[in-house]
Amino acid sequence: MRIIITKSTTEAIDIVSGMLLDKLENKENQVLGLATGKTMEPVYKSLVEKINHGHLNIEQHSFFMLDEYIGIPEDHPSSFKSYINQHFRNPLHLHSIQFSLPSAGTFAIDDAGEEYEKKIKQAGGIDLQLLGIGSNGHIGFNEPGSSLNSRTRVVRLTEETRQANKAQFASESVPEEALSMGVASIMEARELLMLATGTSKADAIKYLFNHHDDESCPATFLKTHQRFTLVLDPEAASKISLNI
Ligand code: F6R
Repeated sequence: MRIIITKSTTEAIDIVSGMLLDKLENKENQVLGLATGKTMEPVYKSLVEKINHGHLNIEQHSFFMLDEYIGIPEDHPSSFKSYINQHFRNPLHLHSIQFSLPSAGTFAIDDAGEEYEKKIKQAGGIDLQLLGIGSNGHIGFNEPGSSLNSRTRVVRLTEETRQANKAQFASESVPEEALSMGVASIMEARELLMLATGTSKADAIKYLFNHHDDESCPATFLKTHQRFTLVLDPEAASKISLNI
């Protein structure tokens, strides 16, 4: 695991968007796994600025989303499809065919998980997977209790996660289920890049540092990946001691 502790949130965001840009600028036909959530909003903003600044054409690359809610239509303003359109696809005028999401929507279709895994394989696998972390240690929507062998499947969201995502849903209730890539699916990516910012992530990051292969904090599984980079701002890193 490579750990980068930055001096500010802005620096952490700049490093992560710079690493994503590097793939899109210097490698051909990249397959990037993307995450949603509050943490990633400034990352996409920074990445869009960098791409526009360099007049880069990124139409050869493709993007796979980690997860999608079940129980709301895909064009619902709080769906992850709408999120990625708003923060990344639309500002860059990218084609919808470049983006894949687990087919969730109003109800989950049988075999949707297997179909999604097949699609990722057909694309050649994920070159770089971007990840956030839940305050309970979830990755994608692999909540505590998810096993190392888990694959793309229907998952039940914890109350903690539903509360954390409440702001996106105005007066509506947050869906109880989602379709999420599994831990095993995430571990198959050739490279993993996690960003954690803010004090609300400090306990999860501390736990990640002190535990290994622990189902109660699925992020701990990532530490055995050969190419796992963890970028932290000072607040997210505030409860760890590095002994260096
Ligand atoms: C969403 C996802 C989640 C988020 C996590 C952190 O695609 O994969 O694991 O990364 O819930 O969310 P924020 O950034 O909103 O704290």
